[in-house]
Amino acid sequence: RLINLPSIAVIPGDGIGPEVVNEGLKIFNYFNNEYNLNFKFEEFNLGAKRYLKNGELIPESILKKLETFDAIYLGAVGDPQVPAGILEHGILLKLRFHFDQYVNLRPIKLLNNRFSPLKNKGVEEINFTVVRENTEGLYAGIGGFLKKGTADEVAIQEMVSTRKGVERIIRYAFEYANKTNGKVTLCDKSNVLTYSHNLWLRVFEEVKTEYPNIKTDHYYVDAITMKMVRNPELFDVIVTCNMFGDIITDLGAELQGGMGLAASANINPDTVSMFEPIHGSAPDIAGKGIANPIAAILAVSMMLEYFHRDDLSEKIENAIKIIIEENKLTPDMGGKLTTQEVGDEILKVLKRG
Ligand code: NAI
Ligand code: MG
Repeated sequence: RLINLPSIAVIPGDGIGPEVVNEGLKIFNYFNNEYNLNFKFEEFNLGAKRYLKNGELIPESILKKLETFDAIYLGAVGDPQVPAGILEHGILLKLRFHFDQYVNLRPIKLLNNRFSPLKNKGVEEINFTVVRENTEGLYAGIGGFLKKGTADEVAIQEMVSTRKGVERIIRYAFEYANKTNGKVTLCDKSNVLTYSHNLWLRVFEEVKTEYPNIKTDHYYVDAITMKMVRNPELFDVIVTCNMFGDIITDLGAELQGGMGLAASANINPDTVSMFEPIHGSAPDIAGKGIANPIAAILAVSMMLEYFHRDDLSEKIENAIKIIIEENKLTPDMGGKLTTQEVGDEILKVLKRG
């Protein structure tokens, strides 16, 4: 969508979240001034501090306020003082569901051959995007127990595939591929999940007839993991269900050089989309100033692409490539710089033009 005065809600969150988001905003602010983008930012304090103080996750008033923004930039949530899952469900998943962010977009792009885990596969070969369905499938949360805690216990978890849900994600993948002349690959298990994924297969066949110029192919999820490792160059855009997307994007994160380099977007083009690094709050290194800000900065790059500034998104990526080349990196990537220094180095490259 085209926006005159785009506004971004910033949720730094917990642990290293605020540290890496600071660097992302440093880059965003530079563009904002340099190119008169007129993005407005407003910070929201959600996360462990707020929860531990008064038990609040996202107050209704903040949720309503967030509806008025064009996008959310999120660091990470999660804290050792809060039982696992409370902040993640109460904030992250809450936002994904509230805004019906049905697309989880995960670029898998290796930026430097040095970080390739695959022999003979480099930046030319490892460059594709996973479009993961983000609202239904096996993660819809429908199910139950029978005779819980007994020897006869039954646990059922339902896989939900709706015509509407499957169609919109497949269509999104085709639209995304349309921009880049890419191929769309369907990843499913329709040979075994003969109802749920039969629907996926039929909808895929149907939607593809509307895009006669886009090449397509189809892999079962088990086979695709082998291909992703052996022949990652086969892929441009992979569209898949919630659970398979969860799994293959972790494989993808490793292909692109690990968590420090992986960003994602939770998108609903009609509501509010959310951009974030995929890593968590990393309590083990929080406060030490050594968190790698690249994933958070790549999330900014995705945000700019979403707002049709592919040119700026590309500038960020190129600047990151250069600092990786020069080994101006945090310790997790074998460098000696601090979080802020890495942000500053990227900024320096951008200013050089
Ligand atoms: P994590 O991603 O926070 O950390 C895993 C390992 O990777 C740690 O050793 C950490 O130091 C390292 N790491 C992560 N990001 C890094 C970065 N930018 N630079 C350098 N090293 C980095 O995952 P973990 O430890 O499983 O979870 C920690 C907390 O974060 C938990 O509360 C978890 O629930 C939450 N979490 C939140 C997510 C989110 O907000 N999207 C995603 C994943 C976990
Ligand atoms: Mg995961």
